[in-house]
Amino acid sequence: MAAQARRKLIAGNWKMNKTVPEALTLAREVKGMVAGVPAERVEVALAPPFVSLLAVAAELQGTEVKLAAQNCYWEASGAYTGEVSAPMLASAGCAYVIVGHSERRQYFGETDETVNKRARAVVGAGMTPILCVGETLEEREAGRTLEVVGRQVEGGLKGFQAAEVAGFVLAYEPVWAIGTGRTATSAQAQEVHRAIREQLARLYDQATANRVIIQYGGSVKPENAAELLKQPDVDGALVGGASLKAGDFAAIVKAGL
Ligand code: 13P
Repeated sequence: MAAQARRKLIAGNWKMNKTVPEALTLAREVKGMVAGVPAERVEVALAPPFVSLLAVAAELQGTEVKLAAQNCYWEASGAYTGEVSAPMLASAGCAYVIVGHSERRQYFGETDETVNKRARAVVGAGMTPILCVGETLEEREAGRTLEVVGRQVEGGLKGFQAAEVAGFVLAYEPVWAIGTGRTATSAQAQEVHRAIREQLARLYDQATANRVIIQYGGSVKPENAAELLKQPDVDGALVGGASLKAGDFAAIVKAGL
């Protein structure tokens, strides 16, 4: 399958931003601005905080914009106060769940093993994981980028069969580029994306590797989106800050066309 055959996926990770009414307003604005973008070419997803999922789901009803959650727990139910499970997210209308975001690895003790368990739960509930990987500045400067990312990919995907992996979304998000205004150059992004795809071909097979969507994330803005998205192995963007402004996010979506 040629690279062009993969759809692009532009997802807005709202992180811990927006009250319920604010989330509804943002979803409504985005919906209006991306109407008419063909989802088979550029799919759009919004990842609001848990409390806004239902309201945003209702707002997106009848559109091609997909709903995503930012995390989930791996058990389906039980005495885990404060946690939200994958079947709950599926029942709220989520198509995607972000797992292993670097902020969760950094602040909430996420490891490759727990990321893997969450991904398993997401697939088990019929949704698609957006599995995040990425190196810190220290790791990049020590020349360890591909080793670190490779280990995160392998750890996150452990135990999955090729047919499952083919449906995954991976997100390469260099930690030093998140929220810093410092974007990876398109060449830096492409180098890592290509290495990830080569790793997937080694771990599984080339056909599987060709199907996996690999998003880039880290200070994606309307000004740099087109250049990043035209790289052969960059299949979309996971957008933080710029996804909080409907106009900026819609411009990034349209840069993928
Ligand atoms: P920024 O776009 O704010 O750098 O965040 C990227 C990110 O972490 C998306 O998940």
